[in-house]
Amino acid sequence: MSPRTLAIIGSGVAGLCAALEAARLGLPAILLTKQQLGDGNSSCAQGGLSAVTAQGEAAGDAVASHVADTLRAGAWHGGAEAVQELCASAAGLVNTLEEHAVQFDKDASGNYQLGLEAAHSAHRILHAGGDATGAGLVAALTAAVRSAERRGQIDVIENALVVDLDFAGAHRRTVHYLQGDRSLELDADAVLLATGGLGSLYAASTNPQGATADGIGLAARAGAVISDLEFIQFHPTLVDPQLHPQAGMISEAVRGEGAVLVNELGQRFMLELDERADLAPRDVVARAIHAQYQAGHQVFIDARAVETLKGAGFLARRFPSITARLKACGLDMALAPIPVVAAQHYAMGGIHTDTRGRTSIPGLYAAGECANTTVHGANRLASNSLLEAMVFARNAVNAMGADAPGRACGIGELVVGQLPAVQAQAPLELPQLQSLASEHLGVYRTGEGAEQLIRVLDASAPVAQDQRALVELDNLHTCARMIAYAAKQRTQSLGAHHRVDAASQDNTGNTVRYGWVLDSAQP
Ligand code: SIN
Repeated sequence: MSPRTLAIIGSGVAGLCAALEAARLGLPAILLTKQQLGDGNSSCAQGGLSAVTAQGEAAGDAVASHVADTLRAGAWHGGAEAVQELCASAAGLVNTLEEHAVQFDKDASGNYQLGLEAAHSAHRILHAGGDATGAGLVAALTAAVRSAERRGQIDVIENALVVDLDFAGAHRRTVHYLQGDRSLELDADAVLLATGGLGSLYAASTNPQGATADGIGLAARAGAVISDLEFIQFHPTLVDPQLHPQAGMISEAVRGEGAVLVNELGQRFMLELDERADLAPRDVVARAIHAQYQAGHQVFIDARAVETLKGAGFLARRFPSITARLKACGLDMALAPIPVVAAQHYAMGGIHTDTRGRTSIPGLYAAGECANTTVHGANRLASNSLLEAMVFARNAVNAMGADAPGRACGIGELVVGQLPAVQAQAPLELPQLQSLASEHLGVYRTGEGAEQLIRVLDASAPVAQDQRALVELDNLHTCARMIAYAAKQRTQSLGAHHRVDAASQDNTGNTVRYGWVLDSAQP
C-alpha cells in the first residue's frame, strides 16, 4: 500500500513542523500557504517558548509546576491530560528544534538565558534573538522545509488560499484553492489545518492582517465542531495604535524584566488588584487596563527602572527588535513610559481536536492557534502558544499517517449547539465587522451586546472587492457568529470571557465546554 498523501494548510510553526515530521516519517506531503512560506503570525512572536529543560530542573523548576501554572492561568478550564502532554513534551521539542538549527539565546557558559513572563512560577522562557523568537524559529524551520523540498520529500505551493474542503468522497479529500486568478484543486488522504488566528476580526490586534480565521471557516463549513471560541485573549501592551500605528506590541517579557504599568498620574494600578501585580495572568492585566481607560485614564508601560537596575543599554540588548521598532516611531522605553492599550492577541478556542489533532470529521486534522486541544483553557499562559503549535502538529502528522479510516475525535462532554442559517442579505464589509466585534466581543461583554451582534451577523452577507478578500471575510464572519453565540451562551465570567452583566464574577472551575456546528452540519 502506498503511503498516505497529506495536505498541510498553513506555514507558521505548526505547518512547518508538520511538514518536517511528514518528511521524517516518509509521508508524501503538500504544504499550501496563502502567502510565502513562513509568512504569518508565528514570525511575530516575541517573548518565547516555555519549556522545563534539564537546566530548569536543576534550578528547581519542574514539569508539574509548568502544568499547574498553565491550568491556573487558564482558570482551571484547561484539559488536564492535554496540558500534561504539552508540558512534558517541551524539552524534547527543544532538542528537535535545535537539530533543525534553531538557536536559542545562551550565556557565555552555554546555558539557556531563561526569561520570566506573567503567571509563570519560574524563569522558563527560552528565546531567540532576544525578542525575535518567532522569527528565529520560522527562519530555521523554513530553511529545513526548503531543503526537504529540494530532496523531493515535500511539495510547497505558495500564494494558495484554500477556499473549500470536499470530504464527500469515501477516503479522498479534495482541497480547492485559489492561486492568483486560477481555481485549482488537489487530492489528499488527510488534511491538516494549521492556518493560525483570527486577529483581523478586531480593529486593534497584535496579529498581522492575514489572520482571518481561515481554518475555522473551512472546518466549520466541512461540518466540524468548533469549541471554546468565547475565550479570546487580549494582550496588555500593544503600543497605542491611535498614537503610533506602526509601533506594535511590547512583549510581556519586558514586564518579566521589571517594567511596570502606570496611568498618567504615575499610579501603579496593578498593585492593589492582584498579588502578582504586573505579572498577573493576561486576562487580569488586560481587564485592569481596559478599566483604566473606561475611567478616563491613560496607561503606560514604564521600563526606566529596569535600565537603572540592570545597567544602561540593557533594554536595547535584551529587546533589540522592540527597541528598533519603537525608535523608528520616535520612542525609547529606556527614556520614557510608552502608551499602551489591551488589544486582541490570541484565540484559546478553535477547531475541536484531541491531542492527536483529530477533529470531529474523519480525515480532517488541526493544529496551532486554529485548533482547540483544550490546553489553554479560558486564558492562555504566556509563551505556551508556539509550544502547543509544534507539539500537537507533530502528533497530528503521526496520527494522519496511522489512523484507521473513519477515526475522528470524540466530543465527550462537549455541549454542542447548532448555529441557524444566515437569513437576510444586508451587505457587511470588513471595517463594519471589526467595529462590531470590537464593541461586543471585546474585553468586557454583555448578553445584550452579544444578542445585538447575533441579530446583525445572522442577517448579513459579507461583501469585498475581490474573491480572495471575500473568502477571508466570509471566514471572519462565520467565526464572529460563533464567538457571539458562545459569548451569549456563557452567562458567567470565566478567564478571558468577562461578562459584566454576570450575577457572580467568580466562576473559576466551571469546566462546561461549549461547541458549535454550522447550520445543518452534524458533529
Ligand atoms: C509576548 O511576548 O508578550 C507574547 C508571548 C505570547 O503571546 O505568549
